[in-house]
Formats: sequence, C-alpha cells, structure tokens
Amino acid sequence: MKGIIFDLDGVIVSTDEQHYLGWQALADKLGIPFSREVNNRFRGVSRMACMDILEEIGDKCYTEQEKIAYATWKNDYYRSLLSELTPADLSEDVKSTLDALRAKGLKLAIGSSSKNTKFILERIGLADYFDAISDGTNISKSKPDPEVFLKAAEFLRLNPEECLVVEDATAGVDAAHAGGMKAVAVGDAAEKFYGDFILESFDELLKVV
Ligand code: BG6
Ligand code: MG
Repeated sequence: MKGIIFDLDGVIVSTDEQHYLGWQALADKLGIPFSREVNNRFRGVSRMACMDILEEIGDKCYTEQEKIAYATWKNDYYRSLLSELTPADLSEDVKSTLDALRAKGLKLAIGSSSKNTKFILERIGLADYFDAISDGTNISKSKPDPEVFLKAAEFLRLNPEECLVVEDATAGVDAAHAGGMKAVAVGDAAEKFYGDFILESFDELLKVV
C-alpha cells in the first residue's frame, strides 16, 4: 500500500452531522418525512443526487429549477452551520493518525463528493495538508461510481490497487471496490460491517496498513 484516500464528511471531520441537519431542515420545509436512517442513504452521494432521493421519498415531482433552488437552500443552511467549524473540530485521534501514516511514508489524499471540501479543510486547518484532493468539483459521477477515487489515485500518481480508501458511506465502499481498491469502514459503514476492514477507532488504521 502506497497511498490512502480519505473520504471527508464523517471520516476526517463530523460534518456529516451538519449535512443531516441541513437535509432535515429542508425536508421539514417541504413537508417530507426524514430521519437519521434515511440520511444514511445520502452519505457519499452528490448534492443533486441527494435532492433526487428526497424527491422520491416525498413522492414529489419537482422541476429541475425547483430542485436546484432547494439544493441551494440546503447548502446555504449547511454552510451557515459550518461557519462554526474550527481546527478544534479536528479530533486529536484523526490528526495524530494522519501524522503517523505520513511518517510511514504513505501518500495521503482526500476523495470526497463534496463541493465544500476545500472550504471545510480550510476551516479545520488542513488546507495544505494532503498530497492530493479529489472532490465534487472535479468529478461528473457521484459515489458509488469510482471516479472520485480514481482521480485521487491519479493525482497521487499511484495505481488504484496501491491505494486504500477510508469511508463512512456504503456508497463509498462500493465506489472503492468498483475502482479496484480495498475499503476501510468507519462510522455508518462500520456499524453495518460493510468494508474490507472495520474500524472501531480511527487509530486502528495504523494496524491495517
Ligand atoms: C459527501 C456527503 O461527502 O458530500 C454527502 O457524504 C453530500 O452527504 C456530498 O451530499 C455533497 O456535498 P456538498 O457539500 O457538495 O453538498
Ligand atoms: Mg462520508
């Protein structure tokens, strides 16, 4: 293994919670039933693809323009919650594990569907930390498509099979496999035992590589 590709929301930082609060607020506004369980389907999935799922759950039929407006409303709400994010939101466990992996000579990348990736990395003080960033701004297909991870491997100048993916989303684990990479599961994916390695704490990653 020469490189590790990390998902962002729910792996490096717990912004998956703010995503949930944003979708819950939009669902309330639109009169659509929503829950944390439903929100798990949104993990790893692009903003507009999440909007399509919300439309399906609510049995609604919105125009493309309406969907863009609602997704923008959710993103504005989400971004307002992110304004409270600081470097203190990066856990000591995550930071020390990243440093230890780097000390082992591994290349580290982000592979996230989010278009807010660079903003979040800035807020938590990791803007210049990773060797490569592949995110929602450089892909056309959302996880479970492997595009975001294949781009990350390419940016690291590594072959996919030389990279390991760390994910909290089942869609992200599927994306890693579709790209020929093994996946380490944390969070929701770990609770579902969905992945090649299941972590109970982030620093257990040091035992996997
Ligand atoms: C992923 C999240 O990281 O990014 C998804 O797990 C989210 O829930 C997706 O929808 C897109 O994020 P953004 O920030 O571009 O709306
Ligand atoms: Mg995630």
